[in-house]
Amino acid sequence: MIKLAILASGTGSNAENIIRYFDRHPKIQVACVVSNLKEAKVLEKAENLHIEHRAFSKQAFLEENTVVKYLQSRADFIILAGFLLKIPGNMLAAYPNKIINIHPALLPKFGGKGMYGMSVHKAVKDTGETETGITIHFINENYDEGAILFQAKTAVSKKDSPEDIAANIHKLEQTHFPEVIEKILT
Ligand code: GRF
Repeated sequence: MIKLAILASGTGSNAENIIRYFDRHPKIQVACVVSNLKEAKVLEKAENLHIEHRAFSKQAFLEENTVVKYLQSRADFIILAGFLLKIPGNMLAAYPNKIINIHPALLPKFGGKGMYGMSVHKAVKDTGETETGITIHFINENYDEGAILFQAKTAVSKKDSPEDIAANIHKLEQTHFPEVIEKILT
């Protein structure tokens, strides 16, 4: 079995979708969900889906080996699904080309520090883009700059609000993220 750890800071709709997709999968299994926020909704979702879950402090993520040890004893790959802390060097070293992120835009556009959640979709709207999309990529030491594994696009019309754009991106994420993970890992 290939075991996954999902790291997430927010609602966890992607995490839930991935957990459901790999439920009873012959080769891939979600082993745990880890957050940097103990009140993150993703932890409730993991609880309801009977997946081991845990929150660690920001300090534990950034300054100690605790989280890496926890992950290494449980997971072969790490999936970032709305995880808002920068991945520390010790985690990158422990998981070379084994950390996969989803970004809600067509990288290299609209990436980098501060570009997450609605700020991405507002920036897409403000610059008058006619399309946007999702990028699934490996993580390296710089934000949003690892090798791109997959992109899917959606049109942006003049009438679309940032919320409309977010809803279209959400659909793309739900459709593609688990399948792309499956393809990369098998
Ligand atoms: C998604 O838009 C994803 O692209 C990202 O953060 C968001 C997480 O949403 N990087 P959710 O918590 O899975 O609902």
